[in-house]
Parts: sequence; C-alpha cells; structure tokens
Amino acid sequence: MTTFLKTTDAYKQGARTLPGRYYTTPEILSEEAERIFRRQWICVGRAEAIAGAGDYVVAEIAGESIIVLRDQTGERRAFYNVCRHRGTRLCEATHGRLSETIQCPYHAWTYALDGRLIGAPHMNEVAGFDKKEYPLHRVALAEWEGFLFVNLARDAEPLAEAFAPLVDRFARYNLAQLRTVRRIDYEVRANWKLILQNYNECLHCPTIHPELSTKLPYTSGANDLIEGPFLGGYMEIKAPNESATLTGRACGLPLGDLPDADRRRAFYYALFPTMMLSLHPDYAVFYTVWIRRRRRGTTSEMPRSSGTAPTDRTGTSASRASWASARGCISRGPTRRARVFPRRGTGSICG
Ligand code: FES
Ligand SMILES: [Fe+2]
Repeated sequence: MTTFLKTTDAYKQGARTLPGRYYTTPEILSEEAERIFRRQWICVGRAEAIAGAGDYVVAEIAGESIIVLRDQTGERRAFYNVCRHRGTRLCEATHGRLSETIQCPYHAWTYALDGRLIGAPHMNEVAGFDKKEYPLHRVALAEWEGFLFVNLARDAEPLAEAFAPLVDRFARYNLAQLRTVRRIDYEVRANWKLILQNYNECLHCPTIHPELSTKLPYTSGANDLIEGPFLGGYMEIKAPNESATLTGRACGLPLGDLPDADRRRAFYYALFPTMMLSLHPDYAVFYTVWIRRRRRGTTSEMPRSSGTAPTDRTGTSASRASWASARGCISRGPTRRARVFPRRGTGSICG
C-alpha cells in the first residue's frame, strides 16, 4: 500500500538549506560534475527522438559531448562525441540523421553506427595499426518508461538497480506509449539545484502562482517517494477542476486506466539530479536541466532548458525565472486542444 507523508512528517531535524557557496562557486560546480553528473543516470530525452536507423541526438553532460543514436540494426547506443584519432568533435548538430556511418570532418576516419572504426585513411601504411583497437568510446545507455538515460561512469550502476524505487510505480500512466507534443527551452540565471528545490515545494505557490492554487491547493499534497535520489508525491486537484490547466478542464483523454483517486490528483517527482516529471490525469510534462557555465566574470552556472510543455505549473514570469528546462509535454492526444496556464507568453499546448 502506498504511504503518503506530509513534508512535516518526513522532515529531518537539523536539515538546512546549503551554504551559499554551494550555489555560486565554480569549484563546487566542478566537484558536482565529478561526483554527481559523471556518476548518475542522466535523462537525455525520449526514445522516440531516435526512432529511425541513424537518428541521433547530442547531449552535453559534465563538459562531455555524448552522441545517442540508433544503429542500422535498431539497437540504441551512446558514444563520446570524440574522434579516436585526434579528438575532433564528430557531430556538431544537436540532432539529426546519420547515413550508415559517422565520418570525422578532420581526417575522415569513419565509424560504423555500432562504434567500430571502419575507415582510417593512410593508417594501413602504419605497421601494427589495427582498426579494431579504435572504436568510439561507449557510454552506458538505458531506457525507463520511454525516457533515455546515459551514465558516464565506467562502472555505472545498472539503471534497473538505481531506479528500483521507480519500477512499475507509474505503469498506470502508460508513459512509454506517450508522444511529445511540444518542447520549450528556457534559460535560467540560477544554480541548477534551486530549480529542483523549487519544484519540490509549493509553499511559494499562493504568492507566486495564485491561479494555480485555485486548482491545486498548495497544502493538499503529500510525498510517497523519498528514497534515494527521488522525491515527490501528489497534490489534490480541487473540484470541479479536472486538471492543472488554465480553464481547469482536462485537455485530453486520461493517460491510462487511472483509478478514481488518480483522476483527482497531480503527481510531481524529481529524479535527481536533472529530471522532473509531472503527471496529471490528462497530460504529463518532463523537465531536464542542462547546465551552462556563466561567461567570464560571473561565478555561477546558467541552467538551460530544452523542452516542451507547461514547464511551470503556472507560467508566471516569476516562476519562469525559477525553472530551467522543460523537455516535453507528453500526451495521449489527439483530443481537445487546451492552453495550459499560458500567461505572459509561456505555457503550452497539449493534446
Ligand atoms: S581527428 Fe578525426 S580523423 Fe583525425
Ligand atoms: Fe512554482
């Protein structure tokens, strides 16, 4: 049976906001890159983005560029976006479709989509050179509920183990079958941790998003997931509203065969370190945070968004400043189209 806890019930005595330097110093960010972003499973988007042979996306994680692609046999793979000859960037675009190979733009070393080096001009004249010894460096890749994750660690913990608290938790929402209908990118001048912290509390909702509070009373929620790097729970959708939309009406069919209780709840989960997942009866939104270091002369990074969808649940300018990235309103549509909290130019369409 699911146990929901109020924040005050789960609160650990002594818990405090991190000291300011954790939000502002480049040294802390570098340490986070080593100890968090190079070791955790990082969401790089939806599996549908590489649906066809040769489709690829490029993700920047902890200063590394990673190619995630589907090869000719249909297998999905991830590699460092770095030529084994002299380190040239192989794919400059953020996404696209490759032919049957990846060719380095510098000296034309050529790789099969499974990472094998299959062409290296003039290297046959070099005694002892063996192409088999120079495949692209692989990166661990796994799928969960239609989302793709990569892990830069050489000894990456299997995703199934890392995500054990999430297994089948959201099966009723059919997330793997959903399709992305809109993406919105935001640039946020704030430390990446603030975005997740803001996501996981709604005490600011009455002041920052008063219209949201009419649909989702800010004290109505409770957490059912506080294990490992995951945190989240539900908020009640106040009747007669059906969803977290501007009108309060549902913008699509139910995402799955949802029990009555779930048709009156919105669920919000943070999947540390960079993903957030919002589940409503009729649509889902996911957010991914992509970190950019600030230009010289500044001291903190700039999270960047890439996304779709009702990123913030209200879309006010104040809240927008607190959100980094949205990548996808996924919906079962097509049904009615509805605007979701579209204020001051934000918000999105789903359905
Ligand atoms: S650096 Fe790629 S072929 Fe030389
Ligand atoms: Fe907010």
